[in-house]
Amino acid sequence: MKLTYLSHSAFLLSDGKHTVAIDPFLEGNPHAALKPEQVKADYVVVTHAHPDHFGDALAIARANHATIISCFEIATFCQKQGVDAHPLHIGGGCDFAFGRVKLTIAHHGSSYPVDGENLQSMGIAAGVLVTIGGKTVYHAGDTGLFMDMKLIGERHAVDVALLPIGDNFTMGLDDAVKAAEFVRPALAIPMHYDTFDIIKADPDSFVNKVKALGIQARKLAFGQEIDV
Ligand code: NI
Ligand code: MN
Repeated sequence: MKLTYLSHSAFLLSDGKHTVAIDPFLEGNPHAALKPEQVKADYVVVTHAHPDHFGDALAIARANHATIISCFEIATFCQKQGVDAHPLHIGGGCDFAFGRVKLTIAHHGSSYPVDGENLQSMGIAAGVLVTIGGKTVYHAGDTGLFMDMKLIGERHAVDVALLPIGDNFTMGLDDAVKAAEFVRPALAIPMHYDTFDIIKADPDSFVNKVKALGIQARKLAFGQEIDV
């Protein structure tokens, strides 16, 4: 399975046959490794509706005839925009052509400026477990640290955990290190940092602290692709 970090919380996962984009915030993202029109994906997974996650999901889905996978409220909104969408909700998973997606809890909001201005609630935020190419990726979405991350690690053999470290809106660095300790992934990767001044963080410090726990961790450059 190939994992590509597009910056912020945006990733591509590919098994060579199918590609899943997660939280594709590219337009307006100063670090975006691709333009929305460069993304080729069959599925777009959205953890929550905030514009730095929902991002270019609709444009990418339209251009690729892709299916958006998200919580019921966001999926319904996407269907009303004429895009294919599969609704899930917390704790529920479903098998797709490439593998499986399951939603987990996340402690965060999920509003969206539907008319470009006024925030409208879009259900609740989630994390996701995406299984593709025989590997399971836990993308925590935006969240604070929570004890049930232990349960996620106990119930699922997580190959890669994508954890926000930017503080302010999500876990800060040290809480994210604790999250890695709870989930016990084969590999932890930091995300959701440096995109804006208010979420500046030191990914190298995260990597070193996680490694000190005996868990592999690495920082990915924007646009970097790795084999998992
Ligand atoms: Ni958010
Ligand atoms: Mn965010």
